[in-house]
Amino acid sequence: MKTTRIGFIGTGAVAQVHAEAYRALAGVELAACYDLDPARADAFARTHSAQGYSDLAAMLSSANLDIACVLTPARAHEAAVIACANAGVHVLCEKPLALSLDACDRMIRACEQAGVSLAYGASYRFLPAVVTAKQLIDAGEIGDILLMREAAVGGSGIERRETLSEAHFPAGGPGGSGMGLIDHGIHLVDLFSWLAKSPVTRVRGRGNIAGQKQLPEYLMLEYDNGALGELVYEDGTFPSELPTEGIFSGGSGWDVGGITPPGQWQAHPGSIHIHGSRGSLRIFHYANALYLRNQHGVREIKVPEPGAPIQFALQLQAFIDSIRAGLPPPVPASAGREACRLVLSVYGEHS
Ligand SMILES: NC(=O)c1ccc[n+]([C@@H]2O[C@H](COP(=O)([O-])OP(=O)(O)OC[C@H]3O[C@@H](n4cnc5c(N)ncnc54)[C@H](O)[C@@H]3O)[C@@H](O)[C@H]2O)c1
Repeated sequence: MKTTRIGFIGTGAVAQVHAEAYRALAGVELAACYDLDPARADAFARTHSAQGYSDLAAMLSSANLDIACVLTPARAHEAAVIACANAGVHVLCEKPLALSLDACDRMIRACEQAGVSLAYGASYRFLPAVVTAKQLIDAGEIGDILLMREAAVGGSGIERRETLSEAHFPAGGPGGSGMGLIDHGIHLVDLFSWLAKSPVTRVRGRGNIAGQKQLPEYLMLEYDNGALGELVYEDGTFPSELPTEGIFSGGSGWDVGGITPPGQWQAHPGSIHIHGSRGSLRIFHYANALYLRNQHGVREIKVPEPGAPIQFALQLQAFIDSIRAGLPPPVPASAGREACRLVLSVYGEHS
């Protein structure tokens, strides 16, 4: 079968992880890359034996790409996706899809008009522990979903609180830290709707604004079927978990202290709690572990290996398969728009 040629737009932190994950895929070539910073594009191209470009239009017109991956900060997603559409290149766009609903709509429209497929980078849906949890839920293992929750609370105090820069989030709009609502919670907003298989009927919450005083963030989502989703984020404090409450990581993850390679101790592993009428699941999504609790007690559920960052490879492969089959992308851009709609509603943006 023909090799699928991939081009990266943006060669920062997440691009490194996508590239590492894609090495697991047969028939996929990281052929080209472009970055606003030509030195970065150059260095990335050398590391990955790709063709580096200092001009996006040149890459899109001459690199003979099958798919472009938009891996820039969110503020630059719209322009990059529209450039791909205009060049007739299928595109996978990282989360959040954009920072306004109008931008989401322009991106979706441009791709529809150009006849290219726009996949939303909902990478959490491809984490093996999450996939296994979804299979158990769909098989009725925990009954009806009542409550889904994630809290990421930690850090090293208010002085070391890190917020993503203007390069990611323009002042005055949604912003905050890499473990905050718009940058990280957006994953869970998508995931919860996917797991609950029910539309959201009511949202309440508070999100940080770029360039302003940062506060704890939350989002409460009420679903049509009665389920509740709860997200709580704050990383200008300290974790309250005890060191013994950690886990040995089965995949590389974004632990509170940075990236943790597989096999190492994660003192504060990210986890998602799903409570149902007949059981509950604790998903250690990056540590690649899953626990089921019901009337028989608690047991560990076997999760396929390897863990993170394989989710990016599974996501790309599913996108390639959909293009070959002439089907919609595995996670359509409309899901990315819906996640934006729910998060942006706490900033007063509605539609
Ligand atoms: N799915 C995940 O788990 C996950 C994890 C981390 C980041 N992300 C997402 O990936 C995206 C990038 O995040 P990151 O952490 O790699 O950021 P980063 O700051 O490390 O890298 C961004 C890169 O994009 C380049 N860039 C900026 N504007 C550009 C433009 N207009 N055109 C081309 N290149 C441009 C920068 O020079 C930089 O090299 C964000 O949307 C972020 O939310 C997703």
